[in-house]
Amino acid sequence: MVKQNNNKIHPEPLQLPRHIAIIMDGNGRWAQRRGLLRHLGHRHGMDALRQSVELCRELNVEILTVYAFSLENWKRPREEVDFLMNLVVEYLDKEEENLHRQGIRINPIGELDYLPLQVRARIEQAVSHTAANSDMIFNIAISYSSRREIVTAARILAAQAATGCLDPQDIDEERFASALYTSGQIDPDLMIRPSGEQRISNFLLWQSAYTEFYYTDIFWPDFGKKDLQAAIAAYQRRERRYGQLTIDN
Ligand code: IPE
Ligand code: IPE
Ligand code: MG
Repeated sequence: MVKQNNNKIHPEPLQLPRHIAIIMDGNGRWAQRRGLLRHLGHRHGMDALRQSVELCRELNVEILTVYAFSLENWKRPREEVDFLMNLVVEYLDKEEENLHRQGIRINPIGELDYLPLQVRARIEQAVSHTAANSDMIFNIAISYSSRREIVTAARILAAQAATGCLDPQDIDEERFASALYTSGQIDPDLMIRPSGEQRISNFLLWQSAYTEFYYTDIFWPDFGKKDLQAAIAAYQRRERRYGQLTIDN
């Protein structure tokens, strides 16, 4: 990868991340700093999301994966959880047509069984509406836990082995990855976490084996196109080696 010294994105497709993952964090603190309720931070986070989606499409990013709600987030106060569930519906009501027009396929990943029925139904409607789109996959991680995803994959493969459909010797990395929610997708090239936290919080543990991480102190509701551009530019200055001494692009 060619190194650069400024914050401009290098336009060569080879140097652009093909898959970007974002942990949309800092909504609550964004609101609290302004003396507002946490809820308002979550709502403003939707505007930030629209900007990142648009820029990813403009740059022909193939996959955008956003962390919207973790399995652990169910432990938050009932009121906040309810608000966030309603916000999922509000987001789809507002954005689904936009996403569809941009050729984006909506693909929820996570323990969807835990969602309230009407939220799940609304998501399924958006999934089928955008199912034929192929310009970008938009993975929305909701009720998501990477460890749970990995355990579920192990269970699927174990069940196949138990019925004799699968020889345990045939379980390799590729086979294992195909039992994850992200089956068939390339791994994230770039993972972005705003809000100053520098941890992965149970997100894409398997898939991020060689992902480049980018942290920023900006809270998610303030994360605009120029911030995503800066993250991509920083990514383009990295040298990915995958354990080797030289890299070929
Ligand atoms: C991220 O913002 C959104 C969700 C986890 C649902 P937070 O709600 O975690 O915001 P902070 O980290 O408390 O500021
Ligand atoms: C991670 O953020 C999950 C999402 C952004 C949806 P959290 O705010 O829940 O993570 P922790 O608790 O700081 O690790
Ligand atoms: Mg947080």
